[in-house]
Amino acid sequence: MSSEPSIRTSLSLKNPVCLSLDLSDPEKGLAVLEGVGRQAGMVKAGPVPFLSYGEPLLRQAERLGIPLFLDLKWHDIPNTVHDAIRSLPSSAIRMITIHALGGPSMVRAARRACELWGENRPALVAVTALTHLTDEELGLIGLSTREEAVRRLGAMALESGADGLVLSPKELLLARSLWGSAPYLVTPGIRPRDSAIAGDDQSNAASPGEAHAMGADLLVVGRPILRADSPEKALAAILRELQG
Ligand code: C5P
Repeated sequence: MSSEPSIRTSLSLKNPVCLSLDLSDPEKGLAVLEGVGRQAGMVKAGPVPFLSYGEPLLRQAERLGIPLFLDLKWHDIPNTVHDAIRSLPSSAIRMITIHALGGPSMVRAARRACELWGENRPALVAVTALTHLTDEELGLIGLSTREEAVRRLGAMALESGADGLVLSPKELLLARSLWGSAPYLVTPGIRPRDSAIAGDDQSNAASPGEAHAMGADLLVVGRPILRADSPEKALAAILRELQG
C-alpha cells in the first residue's frame, strides 16, 4: 500500500470530473481540450486520441496546465510496464492505468516506475474486471463472479502498490466497505439525471451526486459532456450537482 500521506493531495485537482476525450479527430479533440477540457479537473486520453494526435495533445496539456490521465491499461511483463512508465513522454501525465490481471510483480514494477517521477509522480490505478464482461465470461477466464473479481484483484493490486482502482458505480460501496477511505477510486458510467444518449452502453450508470456519495474520487465523463449542445454548460451542471 502507498506510503505517501495521500495521492489526493499530490494530485490536487480543481474538481473531481475527468473529461474522457474520446474523439479521434485531432482538430476536434484539441479544440475540446482547449475549451471544456480546461474547466475539468482532469482529461483522460485513451489509445484512440493518444495514437491519433498524442504529441500535440501532450504539448497543449502542458501549455494549459491540464492534468492528463493516460488510459492505456497496461498488462505486460513487469520489466516492459516499468520501462513504459519510466518513458512517459510528459510530466502532464498525472494518472495511468494498468490491469490488475498482470499480477503482483507487474503492479509492484509499475509502482516503482511511478516513484521515479518524484513528488509529481503519476497516480497508479488498476482495472479489476472490465465492465463489458458478463459473469459467464468471467467464469471462462476463471474469475467466478464480478464481485469476486473485484475483491480478489482489487485487494492484490492495492497490496502491491496501486494507489487506487477503476470501478463501475455499483462496485463503489463494496470497495469502500472492503478497503476504507485510502484507495483512490475512479469511476466511469456517470450519467447526469437529464442525460439521454442514443444507443447508450452504460447499463450500470449513476448520477454524479450518487457516485460521489458512494465514495468515488474521480468521475470519468465522456458522452454526456462531449455530445451536449453546450459541453461547458453540461460540465457546469455536473459540478453544481456535486457541490449541492
Ligand atoms: O460513457 P462515457 O462516454 O461517459 O464513457 C467515458 C469512458 O468510460 C470511456 O472512455 C470508457 O473508458 C469508459 N466506459 C466504461 N464502460 C462502458 C463505457 C465506457 O468503462 N460501458
